[in-house]
Amino acid sequence: MLSVLMFAATGSAQIQYTKAGEFVLPKDFRSWPFLSSGLGMTYSNNPVQNPRFSNVFVNTKALQVFLRKGEWPDKTVLITEDRASSTHASNRDGRFQTDIAFWEAHVKDSSRGGWSYYVILKTAASAKPQPVSAGCLACHAKNAATDTTFVQFYPTLIEAAKRAGNYRDSGDVIMEQPSK
Ligand code: HEC
Repeated sequence: MLSVLMFAATGSAQIQYTKAGEFVLPKDFRSWPFLSSGLGMTYSNNPVQNPRFSNVFVNTKALQVFLRKGEWPDKTVLITEDRASSTHASNRDGRFQTDIAFWEAHVKDSSRGGWSYYVILKTAASAKPQPVSAGCLACHAKNAATDTTFVQFYPTLIEAAKRAGNYRDSGDVIMEQPSK
């Protein structure tokens, strides 16, 4: 019984929405499994002066299912914490993370029609779903390797996705933000 309770507490994301239907940033996501830190993964090919890190986390239960089956279950919550970076500390080229820029969430919830995208400002605790016109889905659907998620950039997931035949090799992807 105890183990069941602990699993419920740490394993499955309990997705919370406000009354107005905004997704609430989970308070404990930093203790979730960590997938990767992209550096300077901006959505354009312009040179970046001060590249940001995007730290990607996923809820434990979804990761366990993914590693077994190579696909994301309902109630998968992926969070990116984007942080500014700085350099010239330990050496000239090494970069380290500094202030939070914002968070993004990609949430699979059948009660909301499948995947939704959220941008949570650092001054906010929740956010409305992004409209299709924001371009999140367009880029993810076109370029991401597995079910609109960028598994090609999460090295610990690639094998499970490939084993399940749920991996699309998109080669060198040029990440251009669709023009507004
Ligand atoms: C032009 C392409 C592009 C657009 C537009 C885009 N993304 Fe992404 N997204 C990426 C890439 C590449 C990654 C891989 C992780 C990284 O940045 O290191 C990613 C990863 C993510 C992740 C981590 C989970 C996953 O699905 O892999 C979230 C959350 C996310 N994006 C949210 C958003 C939201 C919200 C928007 C719209 C406001 C958006 N993205 C628009 C390219 C894009």
